[in-house]
Amino acid sequence: MDKSKLSFSGLGAILAIISSAVGLGNIWKFPTMTGQNGGFGFILVYVISCVFVAIPVLLVEFYVSNKTKKIPAESFVEISGKKYWQILPVLGVLACTLVVAFYSDVIGWVLSYFVNSMTGSLNVDNIEAAGNVFVNTISNPVGVVIYQIIPVVAVATILSVGAVKGVEKIVKISLPLLLGILILLLIKSLTMSGAGEAIAFLFKPDFSKITGKLLLDALGLSFFKLSSGFLALATYFAFFPKGVSPLNALSKMLVADLIISVLAGLVIFPIVFTYGLEPSAGPSLIFMTLPIAFSQMPFGSVLMPVFFLLILAASFGALASLTETGNSYLEKTTKLGRKKSVLVNTSVLVVLGVFASLSTTPVLDGVTICGKNIFDALDYLTSNIMLPIMGLLLITFFLKEVNKEEAKKYMVNQCNANEKMLNILIMILTYITPLIMVLIALAQLGLLK
Ligand code: TRP
Repeated sequence: MDKSKLSFSGLGAILAIISSAVGLGNIWKFPTMTGQNGGFGFILVYVISCVFVAIPVLLVEFYVSNKTKKIPAESFVEISGKKYWQILPVLGVLACTLVVAFYSDVIGWVLSYFVNSMTGSLNVDNIEAAGNVFVNTISNPVGVVIYQIIPVVAVATILSVGAVKGVEKIVKISLPLLLGILILLLIKSLTMSGAGEAIAFLFKPDFSKITGKLLLDALGLSFFKLSSGFLALATYFAFFPKGVSPLNALSKMLVADLIISVLAGLVIFPIVFTYGLEPSAGPSLIFMTLPIAFSQMPFGSVLMPVFFLLILAASFGALASLTETGNSYLEKTTKLGRKKSVLVNTSVLVVLGVFASLSTTPVLDGVTICGKNIFDALDYLTSNIMLPIMGLLLITFFLKEVNKEEAKKYMVNQCNANEKMLNILIMILTYITPLIMVLIALAQLGLLK
């Protein structure tokens, strides 16, 4: 029997999409962006982008996959009857592959920090020393390559048994582990002296910080967080069992992911403020400031590896959805079979990933694309160029090729979708989402100021 054809259980389906949403983004992107961009005001803008853009796009992905019970490699052409829509899954696989190249790189750094935190080599007491450790980590060619390959190969090995079985194996371990560690660290953080300052930093509404650039950032984040637009979840939706409402599943994913992001913020910022560190943006927050704090706090030598394990647990489910898009595409469109498809896809990911990871080392740091090193160029290309294009294409597909009445009927009768909510969402998808996407595309092209 072809095991990849089994479908998820109801709970398994919801956990699978939650585990794809939860990832590195919850740990450093969301909390820092929230703190620096107006606290509660930013959270509001973020939720609005999720509801008006990222989730409607996911609804298109859901309908096309679940109706046909086929992965994107076949579903878009089947629904439309037009071969040229094959462009969507092809771009989806390409985008996910490019995201993996830099995403797995950061997971590699986390793995390396996890290992080093247990040997004591991360015990530092000032920002220069912490900076040196970070630079040494990301500029050691052998280290970055090995640490990046390990998670990619580990996830591939689990997924090689089949999409559904593999993903369920991952989420059954990663999500409980993540929650357990998060609660443990939360108790510690909230009893620290900087907790009050952290709560003010994260939640105090400051609407004056909401600018055009911020709206763009929030929108990009909503796509990235909910794994929307790259057809990563479309692959999972094909295996959703009958009767699981997309509205219910997607709202659970949004809420669960948001809660984990906020909890992550409540773990990280009390540490940052208690030890007088800079709540700076990006990876430097976790890689440069937190080792200093952990080195000074009681039980820090135990809590530091636990913290990095938390990030690893979170990243596995996300890596699974990103890599499964290519695995199942190859499995469907070639004669390779499951295991060989995973092998071929993983080899491509590893080779690309090696280029990205070497871009922070002396081996390739001189190579730039449009003034960015390979790592930054990949990040920019996927989030700022491919994501808006994919979003627009998916909406165009929906407006042009999907019979709305049929789609409504299917989702109400076969998926228990709440009819009123569905009507509202389809209205948003038809009128509001395209408008926002076109504005974003114009802004990206520099035609809007
Ligand atoms: N949501 C993940 C995070 O926050 C990243 C991710 C997983 C993703 N699957 C995806 C991003 C698919 C885009 C497309 O870290």
